[in-house]
Amino acid sequence: MGVSSKPFGVTGDGAPQVELFTLTNARGHAVRITNYGAIVTGLEVPDRDGEVADVVLGFDTLDEYLASHPYFGAVVGRLGNRLAGGKFTLDGLEYTIAQNDGPNSLHGGLKGFDKVLWQAEGRETPDGPALVLSYVSADGEEGYPGELSVRVTYTWANRDVFRVEYRAETTKPTVLNVTQHAYFNLAGAGAGDVLGHELQIFADRFTPIDETLIPTGELRSVAGTPLDFRAPHVLGERIGADDEQLANGGGYDHNYVLNSADGSLARAVRVVESTTGRAMEVWTTEPGVQLYSGNFLDSANVGKSGKTYHKYYGFCLETQHFPDSPNHPEFPSAVLRPGQTWRTTTEFRFSAG
Ligand code: BGC
Repeated sequence: MGVSSKPFGVTGDGAPQVELFTLTNARGHAVRITNYGAIVTGLEVPDRDGEVADVVLGFDTLDEYLASHPYFGAVVGRLGNRLAGGKFTLDGLEYTIAQNDGPNSLHGGLKGFDKVLWQAEGRETPDGPALVLSYVSADGEEGYPGELSVRVTYTWANRDVFRVEYRAETTKPTVLNVTQHAYFNLAGAGAGDVLGHELQIFADRFTPIDETLIPTGELRSVAGTPLDFRAPHVLGERIGADDEQLANGGGYDHNYVLNSADGSLARAVRVVESTTGRAMEVWTTEPGVQLYSGNFLDSANVGKSGKTYHKYYGFCLETQHFPDSPNHPEFPSAVLRPGQTWRTTTEFRFSAG
């Protein structure tokens, strides 16, 4: 039980050593995290027979994380998800962020939080082992205003709850939307596609998107659509339906407006994988969650133990403020001002039955 670390390589000549941390909880289950990108590289939980499997997609080596990949396990920011046209206006000033996703900016720009080195400090807490990761993003980094001090605390609680707490402060008004981009397969990473997972999402509405995956601004009822997961449905059941929203996303790639909107830690999603009995609940203080069904994964994504992650081989549940919030004053605000502290919490609670 506790936190251990070992060298994971370097990002370039003369760069500081990157570490790979292992957090082992009282049940003997391990979570592995590197301080490059605050990436969760492995998360091991038992099935109904006590058989442990690693349920997050990722790589065995740092070099593979340094090469291009779709944000496996990383913390994304400053502004997770999309920003229309890579532009926003705040207090009358216009800011431009790189358009790294067609006409839009995605997950913070060219070198977001997923590609920087974080300061890491292991801790033992009564709840379980923890890793505190800190990063100071310079004023103007990737085009965002204000020096932003951000901290992500990962706690691997003894009852197999993976808690992620974000905290940030800024020296100038800025915008922020940090989230965890783990891809899950509760049958084990690389074991197959995730279309058989059963999902329940505690949201009556979602934010419909255009063909470039930018929200139109509408909060639309899920009723009568293939996006309705208010009652449990298997992910693949309606993914091929003839539906404008599924066509725009290439599958599920949508932000759900969570029913609990008061900022308390509330249940957002429940996922069950029936062949193994593994289940995961996502609890969050955030107003939204992005369901991404791994639509853009393809045979180029070869991960841990040489397993290929094809299309639909992992799903993400990114708890968040709504995509493109800086351009939608009607959405919950993603603005952070000096003197304020940004605090959000998300828990991934694992069980088997
Ligand atoms: C986005 C997807 C994107 C994926 C990986 C998700 O958060 O919604 O559209 O392809 O991240 O980059």
